[in-house]
Amino acid sequence: MSERDRQLEYMEKAKGYVAKFAEELGRRPTCCVTTFGCQMNARDSEKLVGILKTIGYEIIEEENADFVIYNTCTVRDNANQKVYGRLGVLNGYKKKNPRMKIALCGCMMQEPTVIEKIRTSYGFVDLIFGTHNIFKFAELLVAVFEDQGMVIDIWKDTDQIVEDLPVERKYPFKSGINIMFGCNNFCSYCIVPYVRGRERSRDPRDIIREIEGLVADGVVEIMLLGQNVNSYGKNLDEPITFATLLQEVEKIEGLKRIRFMTSHPKDLSDELIDVMKHSTKICRHLHLPLQSGSTKILTAMNRRYTKEQYMELVQKIRREIPDIAITTDIIVGFPGETMEDVEETLDVIRKVKYDNAFTFIYSKRTGTPAAVMENQVSEEDVKRGFDKVLKLVQETAKEQVSRYQGQIVEVLVEEVDESDSSMVTGRMSNNTLVHFPGGRELVGQLFKVSLDECHGFYYIGHKV
Ligand code: SAH
Ligand code: SF4
Ligand code: F3S
Repeated sequence: MSERDRQLEYMEKAKGYVAKFAEELGRRPTCCVTTFGCQMNARDSEKLVGILKTIGYEIIEEENADFVIYNTCTVRDNANQKVYGRLGVLNGYKKKNPRMKIALCGCMMQEPTVIEKIRTSYGFVDLIFGTHNIFKFAELLVAVFEDQGMVIDIWKDTDQIVEDLPVERKYPFKSGINIMFGCNNFCSYCIVPYVRGRERSRDPRDIIREIEGLVADGVVEIMLLGQNVNSYGKNLDEPITFATLLQEVEKIEGLKRIRFMTSHPKDLSDELIDVMKHSTKICRHLHLPLQSGSTKILTAMNRRYTKEQYMELVQKIRREIPDIAITTDIIVGFPGETMEDVEETLDVIRKVKYDNAFTFIYSKRTGTPAAVMENQVSEEDVKRGFDKVLKLVQETAKEQVSRYQGQIVEVLVEEVDESDSSMVTGRMSNNTLVHFPGGRELVGQLFKVSLDECHGFYYIGHKV
């Protein structure tokens, strides 16, 4: 029997338990999935919700539900602290609703110290699983229904990819698609390779088939997901490049926009730039994490490019695709970073002019090489550097974003404006947000919009 068929059997079994539970409650049991972290986790949560809906749960947004799942992130320590804090609140809910079940999954659960802490201090948790066995969710649920104590199932790694399990999308018109899992880069500060395992690419045929299915179901924009999409396909039995995959995806009729995340600068090929340049569907946006502008720090980070190589790459991209928006991630406070190193980072920001940049304070992750490096930077110096970087990033981003003022561009409407229900919010190809008058019926459609006023990071416009 295939793994997929096994899991479908468990779903049937779980359905029986949920139906019985519903009968006892006199209503459908409710469930809430809360996601921390990146798009990979968001996509994983859609898979969890797909299974929960299939077996009969009603999905709600409130955490005071019959079943609560935290899909966790551990990339920086504050992500972990948030989870511990909120677990306290869940414990309060559970005291009032003793039949409530609590599950934890995701990257944080791949750390043995975390499991130990939950075992000893958070005994009210019912189920813990990791990033490698999420396809087993139905089976684990059955174990929870059948057992009393805490169910813990964590795998160290896997090469298994189980296709075609149920997925419930958050947005009807756009979707993330995993094209690969894991990471082999081992940047010295980063915990992702330890909690997500080795790099595995999905078969391109499975990817295309999934996207075709999504398009048939109303999806117009997709985001191809991987920690380093530029190394996609290298380890497949029939190797294929990321650029070739993009060309195949482009051919899918009815698909309007293609995005991808994330590109490691060291692996970004000329072939990819060329494919992007000639594409009518690939969005004019590239997220190209810099991390630091200092070659000394980049070397210590094991990023495997220099400041000069990064700058050359950006120049090449801008030359070939002038209307592209480039965004980035920056870490301040990596061990050994001096104010001169921060100046190098500022220099890159000034020259590249990012449309947006996510700036992070370095967070020590136990088990990574950087955690045991001497010369950790003092909190004071980190703060000084961080403020400088943030200020410059905001200035240049404002200037960059404003360069479209007065133009007419295509916008995909994503939702009704949160603060003003007579407006909708959409996204340009280059990822900039635009608000313009309209109602719910526009959601999921593309419109030509005139960009009238630039407000820093977004535009106010009108439909033309
Ligand atoms: N695979 C992606 C990054 C995934 S993590 C890439 O290489 O671009 C997202 C971002 O979190 C990273 O780009 C980095 O800027 C930040 N990050 C990762 N580990 C961190 C740490 N220990 N402290 C602070 N920021 C970190
Ligand atoms: Fe982390 Fe580097 Fe892999 Fe990105 S490429 S996930 S930063 S190790
Ligand atoms: Fe966090 Fe895991 Fe993503 S650690 S950033 S959720 S891959």
